[in-house]
Amino acid sequence: MSGDPIYTEMIIEYSRNPSNFGKIVDAHIHQHDANPLCGDTIDLYLNIDDNKISEVKFDGHGCAICMACSSVLTEMIKGKSLEDVKKFDKDELLSELGLEHLVKTSPVRIKCALLSLKSLKYGIYSYFADKLNDSESAGNLKEEAANLY
Ligand code: FES
Repeated sequence: MSGDPIYTEMIIEYSRNPSNFGKIVDAHIHQHDANPLCGDTIDLYLNIDDNKISEVKFDGHGCAICMACSSVLTEMIKGKSLEDVKKFDKDELLSELGLEHLVKTSPVRIKCALLSLKSLKYGIYSYFADKLNDSESAGNLKEEAANLY
């Protein structure tokens, strides 16, 4: 894997030592998702306080890119308001790891890279729409998640 230029030092390091890896018991948001191409799964856990993400963790199994992107996503959204996180864009995440090119170059790898973001969007959608019965705040996050890649 390290011979492929996609695997930068940062990606390899994150895959070995993922950030915010683990579970939150009774999390306000728990979203499970799977990459249909490989069957790898992740679970994303979020706690919300004062409309901010006070705690975030993920666990599961994925390739180095999936682990690295999930780690970076959790680092980037921790402490942010739900309003800001709702607008979180895939380019923000991909550019953090120098992976913007995957959108055009690798329809397979982009699914690895964006699995956690897809979970995040579905998770926040469910939080608003199902838990709080607030479909206005849920907005079109469900469609965004479905059309992410
Ligand atoms: Fe399974 Fe990347 S190969 S998530």
